[in-house]
Formats: sequence, structure tokens, C-alpha cells
Amino acid sequence: MGKIVVVDDDPAILELVSLLLARRGYQVLTATDSQTALSLVASERPELVLMDYMLPDSNGLTTLRTLRDQFPDSYVIMFSGQGSEEIVVELMKAGAAEYLLKPFNNRTLVERVDGVLRLREIEQANRALQIERERLLLEIEAWNRELQERVREKTEALQRAQTEITQTEKLAALGYLSAGMAHEIRNPLNSISLFTQLLKQGAQDEEQQEYLDKVMKEVDRIDGIIRRLVDAAGRSRTVQPAVQVLEVIQTALEIFKPQIESHHIMVSLECNQPLPTLKADPAELEQIFTNLFQNALQEMTHGGQLAIAITTADNQIVVRVRDTGKGIPAELQEKVFEPFFTTKNRGTGIGLPVVRRIARLYHGDVTIEETSANGTIFRVCFPALTGA
Ligand SMILES: Nc1ncnc2c1ncn2[C@@H]1O[C@H](COP(=O)(O)OP(=O)(O)OP(=O)(O)O)[C@@H](O)[C@H]1O
Ligand SMILES: [Mg+2]
Repeated sequence: MGKIVVVDDDPAILELVSLLLARRGYQVLTATDSQTALSLVASERPELVLMDYMLPDSNGLTTLRTLRDQFPDSYVIMFSGQGSEEIVVELMKAGAAEYLLKPFNNRTLVERVDGVLRLREIEQANRALQIERERLLLEIEAWNRELQERVREKTEALQRAQTEITQTEKLAALGYLSAGMAHEIRNPLNSISLFTQLLKQGAQDEEQQEYLDKVMKEVDRIDGIIRRLVDAAGRSRTVQPAVQVLEVIQTALEIFKPQIESHHIMVSLECNQPLPTLKADPAELEQIFTNLFQNALQEMTHGGQLAIAITTADNQIVVRVRDTGKGIPAELQEKVFEPFFTTKNRGTGIGLPVVRRIARLYHGDVTIEETSANGTIFRVCFPALTGA
């Protein structure tokens, strides 16, 4: 049963009430003034306080307010000899749970005390539920936020995957078309080339010679585009067991020697550690670097630096190709890997998609590591131990 503090300056009432409540099983403590009552409540934290409205050291209303304010878990039943309606209203407003008019009979007292304690129990349980409900609501809210975040992440991942699928499909379609087209176009192109050479032999006029040279150049250009299309689609492969990446890179650089000299480009090739070899098709690897070098050199028409650095890390071979060109604007950084995306007048937009396709074929990847107005670093990586 509960603990009850009874406060009354009349010792007879204190005794009677104590007796009644103790008989009912309650633990009863008593006080005869409000000061003692307050310190008793503070130390004992009773479930209930029974208090007379008229106390020697203070007005019962003031003590009631203090009690309700400082010890809201202790409910209060007030009793008094004067039963004016205003007082009752005042007491209930101040937080009394019940009001008993003296003289009260024993049964009424016990009934009211039992009633208030039951009410207290229900209200406290209710409050605990309320707190639990708020806690759960907060938890649900947090879950909701987390869920939304997860959905957002998944959607983004899905969109990225979708974009990649589209790119791969474009490349596949390209392969299918280009194989057929290359054959169809190369024959007439060959004829054009032959006839132009014949015409050139017979041409006296310098202007005509010049025009025919231009025709030949354009024919070469078409042939170059076709070659790139066929390359992009991937040719038949000859995988070798131990390819040296450094050698592949040196061969690729060799191709650009004339361009490097005429554009006054300083080239550096750094490779400090001994490198693991790759199981790969050297021609495919070479394509990666010729495309990257070509892009870099196209960016630097009047001098610049082409720096190539090969390192190993976490079982990966990492090659960085840095140029001192104009850089790639932020909004184009993913676009440049899309097939046919180009910003060049005479570009086809095949270079980087091919680089990416081949790098991924070897379970590696190519990314833009850094780019600014001072230049760009492309980073290519391959897992060192596997091949395609
Ligand atoms: N090193 C670089 N610096 C600045 N921009 C670059 C660099 N490399 C590529 N880009 C940008 O990415 C675009 C796509 O490159 P990609 O090699 O795929 O095609 P392209 O060079 O335009 O044409 P292609 O290589 O087929 O002749 C380029 O048009 C250019 O805008
Ligand atoms: Mg290119």
C-alpha cells in the first residue's frame, strides 16, 4: 500500500485519521504545521498528502500550491471546517485532487483516499504511456528519415547504373554498326583515294594540286574515324600472360613523338617500383593510353607538360596521366565518358568511352582525379593479379 502524510494542527484528528488509514494498510506519517509537512514530503515522497486548509504557520492554499509545484507526484486531499464554494473552487484550481468537509465520517475518508490513489495510479500510468508514445514517435520519425535517405541513395545508384547501361548499349550498338559500315565505306573510300592520286599525277595547276591534297587529307580523316569506330567496338583479342604496363606506355608515347616535338611538350614518365605484370591484350592496353595521350596533347597545342606516373597500391597498378591543358568544367566531368560526347570540332567522342570500356574489361576503371584551369589528371587503375 501507499505512503500518506497527514497534516493537521488538531492532534485528535491526526490520531484518528492515522489510525483509520493504518488499519487499511497505508503507511502514515504526520505533521502539525506546513513547514514540517513540506520537509516530510520532500524526504518521504508520499503518494498522498491529506492536509487541513487552516494551518498555524500558513494558509493551506499556499502550501497546496508549493506542494503541487515541487512534488507533482504527491497528490493532495484538502480538508477544512469551512465549506464555502469559493474555497472549494480555489483549492481544486490550485491542484487538490479532492476536498473533504469536516466533520467527515470514516467511510467517506477511506473511500476518497482509495479513490484518489487509484486515480493517481491511472494518471501516472497514462503519463508513462504518453512519454513512451512520444519516444516511439521520435524513433519512427528517425526511421523514416533513415528510410528516405536509403531510398534516395538507392535511387541514385539505380540512376547511375541506368546511365551506365545506356552507355554500354550505345557502345554495343556502335560495335554492331561499325563492323558492317567500315566494310561498306572503306571500299568506295579506297576508290576515291586511288582516283585522287591518279588525278594528282596528271594535274599541272598548283591550285588543283592543293585541292587534291585536301581531298586526300579528308579521305584520311574518314578512314581514321572508321578505324576509331572499329577500335571502339573492340577487335578480336590476343591475351598475353605477362604484359609490362611500362612497355605498353612507352610504345604508346612513341606514336605521338612528332606531335610532342611540334607542340613543344615536355614529357615525363615516372615508375619507381618494379611493377607486376598483367594478363592482358597489349593492343587493348595501348588503346587506353593512346586515347588519353591524344586528348592531353589536343589540349596543349602551344607547349605544356605531359606527366605520366605509374604506382602500385593495394594490389593495383595505378597510372596517372597529367596534362597542363584547360581542364574539364565540373558539369562535363561525367559526360565526357559518354559515347559520342565531344567538345571538339573534329572529335568523335569515342576516346574516353573506349578507355573506360577497356579498363573495366580488366576489372579496373578510369576516373578524372583532378581537373582545374591548370590541367587535368586522369587516373587509370587495374587490379594487378587478375587479367581479363
Ligand atoms: N585531357 C583533357 N583535358 C580537357 N578535356 C578533355 C581531356 N580529355 C578529354 N576531354 C574532354 O572530353 C571530351 C571527350 O573526350 P573523348 O576522347 O571521348 O572524345 P574526343 O577527344 O572529343 O574525340 P575522339 O577521342 O573520339 O577523337 C573531349 O571532347 C573534351 O571535351
Ligand atoms: Mg579523344
